[in-house]
Amino acid sequence: MSRTDLSEWQALEALAATDGARHLRDLFAEDEGRFERFSAEAAGLFVDYSKTRITSDVLDGLLDLARATRLEDRRTDMFRGEKINATEGRAVLHVALRDTAKGKYFVDGADVMDDIQSVLSQMEAYCDSVHSGARMGHTGKPLDTVVNIGIGGSDLGPVMVTEALKPYALEGRATHFVSNVDGTHLAEVLKRIDPERTLFVIASKTFTTQETMTNAASAREWFLASGAPESAVADHFIALSTNEAAVTEFGINAENMFPFWEWVGGRYSLWSAIGLPIALSVGWKNYRALLDGAAAMDRHFETAPMKENLPVLLALIGVWHRSFLGMQANAVLPYDQYLHRLPAYLQQADMESNGKSVTMAGAHVTYGTGPVLFGEAGTNGQHAFYQLIHQGTDIIPCDFIAAAESHNPLGDHHEKLLANFLAQPEALAMGKTPDEVREDLKGSGMADAEIEALVPHKVFTGNRPTVSILMERLEPRTLGSLIALYEHRIFCQSVIWDINAFDQWGVELGKVLAKAILPELKGWADVKHDSSTSGLIARINRLRRS
Ligand code: F6P
Repeated sequence: MSRTDLSEWQALEALAATDGARHLRDLFAEDEGRFERFSAEAAGLFVDYSKTRITSDVLDGLLDLARATRLEDRRTDMFRGEKINATEGRAVLHVALRDTAKGKYFVDGADVMDDIQSVLSQMEAYCDSVHSGARMGHTGKPLDTVVNIGIGGSDLGPVMVTEALKPYALEGRATHFVSNVDGTHLAEVLKRIDPERTLFVIASKTFTTQETMTNAASAREWFLASGAPESAVADHFIALSTNEAAVTEFGINAENMFPFWEWVGGRYSLWSAIGLPIALSVGWKNYRALLDGAAAMDRHFETAPMKENLPVLLALIGVWHRSFLGMQANAVLPYDQYLHRLPAYLQQADMESNGKSVTMAGAHVTYGTGPVLFGEAGTNGQHAFYQLIHQGTDIIPCDFIAAAESHNPLGDHHEKLLANFLAQPEALAMGKTPDEVREDLKGSGMADAEIEALVPHKVFTGNRPTVSILMERLEPRTLGSLIALYEHRIFCQSVIWDINAFDQWGVELGKVLAKAILPELKGWADVKHDSSTSGLIARINRLRRS
């Protein structure tokens, strides 16, 4: 049975034409309690969703849909370690990585907590040894520089968190991230580091990813070319992976490998050994606080009734905007410079998870699923793409994120930042009517005809939905909660859409074709493609050889 056959789905379709068309201006005008009614708080995060396009009837309808799609059962399945990633036959247990409860998380009947604790202890001991100087480079210099080599989930989470927690970074330490196979990425980092002080962290779940293996091999070559003996590789290269055989084959000793497990999805892996560069940057206590913050959101998600459950509520609103009101994108706009990589991180988390168009049973969906996610730190985005969000033909729901307290209370910068954080959602919701525009222009002494010509350009239709997420301060704990909030929102949406959020077959075809094209670029194989691809290969080969 398709989701669209559910009476709950059809009831919402009917509501889309009535309640879904109501203007936020009117909804606020007729209900003084709208903010209280449509806001909630958990795990250090306050979420105002009153400026989204919902009414009480819509929310009730969405909660009915959640029940009809057995969202609570699916949540239980995830926490129980059921193989909810059906196409890969895997459990999805990143929640276990940040919990401390024994006897709660099982995969194939085995409690995973001892394994988790043992890797956490290995990571903690390693961090301590690097930070204390007990572990040094091969010439006796401190290992104060980390270069993480990884891509996708083995890069985006660690980069985003390391940037976000910069105020907690241990003094005198530098962390670099190299992901792109474009040699420029690695080369620019290598220019700035001292091989004798550098620890290369090769992060790859599979340890087969072309970009990461290529960068790792080049980093190793550069390290040896600096005069380091082969035996020094053990002091300067470690691996974070699930694939011990490939790690050993690369030349990294198993004792320098920090393992994790197939039930940790790449884009959910910053809570596993993949988080080591974060811990090396901010220290173990802060990394643990990050995990604790995520665990606090997990408890909320696991136990709060659906109508007070933040990830559930945000998921339902997302489904409403996407599948019933036809909004195709979602902007994530952190009003916090430290969160400048959050949109990039969430692009993978959301789009690799819910960019799917077949149901769990393999049927084509007939409704919109994962939105196009993009964003930028406020206020930079305001001077770039907000024009389209305010007056473009598409309606783009936005998430505004801010902390009440700044780590850098410089003059009145933070008040100005917060004023913008508040003003944008207000403008998007309320807009500016033609009469208001006329009123404004009249004061300028402009002629009536001129005013009328300008009015349509200066009108803001408003009724553009936003969610505002507010925290006291961006700290390891609140950051952990924020990431977990999004993770669970994405999962809940996948349940309602009846898609698998945990596989990513869509990334495969391009990888396979790139492997076939590589020998053709090297001139080792004949070129056999469509005329466009073949033509481009021929042109590149001519340009490179001329
Ligand atoms: O982009 C596809 C993907 O498989 C992601 O899901 C993953 O995070 C990334 O590649 C990196 O994979 P690995 O950690 O195995 O190198």
